[in-house]
Amino acid sequence: MTKQDQFLDRWETSFKEGSFVRASFTGARNLASPPPAENAQVRLIELNGLPAWSVTFREQRGDRTRNFPPGEFFAFVRNELLPAYRTGLLGTTRKDWQLIQSDSPGKEARLVSHASARAEPPSRTHDQKKPSLLDERARDWLLGLDVTTEDGKVRGSMADKHRQIHRYLEILSHHLEPCESGSPFSVVDMGCGKGYLTFAVWHWIHRIRGASATVVGIDSRKDLVDRGNELALSIQATGLVFRTGAIQDAEIGRPDALIALHACDTATDDAILKGVSAGVKHLMVAPCCHQDLRPQLGRPIPWDAILEHGILLERFAEWLSDGLRSLYLQAAGYSVKVLEFVGAEHTPKNLLICASRPPREDHAARQRAIERIRTIQAEFGVAEHPLGKLARDAEEILMKRE
Ligand SMILES: C[S@@+](CC[C@H](N)C(=O)[O-])C[C@H]1O[C@@H](n2cnc3c(N)ncnc32)[C@H](O)[C@@H]1O
Repeated sequence: MTKQDQFLDRWETSFKEGSFVRASFTGARNLASPPPAENAQVRLIELNGLPAWSVTFREQRGDRTRNFPPGEFFAFVRNELLPAYRTGLLGTTRKDWQLIQSDSPGKEARLVSHASARAEPPSRTHDQKKPSLLDERARDWLLGLDVTTEDGKVRGSMADKHRQIHRYLEILSHHLEPCESGSPFSVVDMGCGKGYLTFAVWHWIHRIRGASATVVGIDSRKDLVDRGNELALSIQATGLVFRTGAIQDAEIGRPDALIALHACDTATDDAILKGVSAGVKHLMVAPCCHQDLRPQLGRPIPWDAILEHGILLERFAEWLSDGLRSLYLQAAGYSVKVLEFVGAEHTPKNLLICASRPPREDHAARQRAIERIRTIQAEFGVAEHPLGKLARDAEEILMKRE
């Protein structure tokens, strides 16, 4: 019996005897085709009075759920989940089991047992309400920032802002969750403005994750910084401070993550440069302005036929700016995802670039990004990009390593 068979056997037994708690699958296996999502979480639920398996595929752009009757389920796990993910976790009320599979063909998997994390199986009710990231615990700072009223209701004029904060936290928790587990976590928010997201990030680390947080909001406007500090003090937000200053001159040390949402003019690129040179593990920026590229942008054949239309030229300049930002981050050694973080009906500035340092450096990916930047910029006549330094530094590093 292989370790995979043993894992499935224990799972089926836990189902039959009623001791199943949960299962999850994480980490893409390099051997197989890409997994259906970043990770998969499995629950046993009741549908119309009958047991069913509910698989939630978690991705940065949102969750997808598929329900299976018991008869079809274990074939799905064997054929789809086990080949795609490196680690499977089975939680039962008797013991927890971890299946760790190797990428090397022929190398046997390991099956490790742990003490059970739960003595009782969870409720099988299907529609368990997902706890909101902005629950009661967020009441004080949401009120302080005038997002909600005294009785906790979202103000009509602040509904979009509330949605934006919530969505941002959802993405943040997906993006950072696999990397940190309750350990101290530091974040700098560049161009923090009134501090909606600065408070939100602090809330997530400190009040939701229960970790110790150092969160710094930086903004050139002293009045906003003073107000942020007053509110932080009044709600006793340990580890949250606001500082007046320009992004380009800020001393930020070496935080775990840097965020910048809708920082105007050159501030997004200044924030990216700051974050990369500080060696942050995670960067999340929502660009606001795309002014640098537009004047440089040529209209090569056959693109001229499209770019002669002002609005298309405008949108293309935005698109190209953010695409190049992503490539520069890849050249600097980050893996990058570009997401839409709220619907375009709420704000047109709704793109979020999420970059994380991978556990292993991928020199080939960095080199490829440099070459792509060169090709694209040559094609559209972009002589200089505000993030140009990132590609020059990367080239130097890669040359030394050759
Ligand atoms: C559009 S607001 C966004 C505020 C906040 N990030 C949010 O999403 O709610 C942009 C903020 O960036 C600040 N800012 C722009 N350029 C800056 C710079 N170079 N240094 C520091 N702050 C800057 C502005 O003062 C302003 O408060």
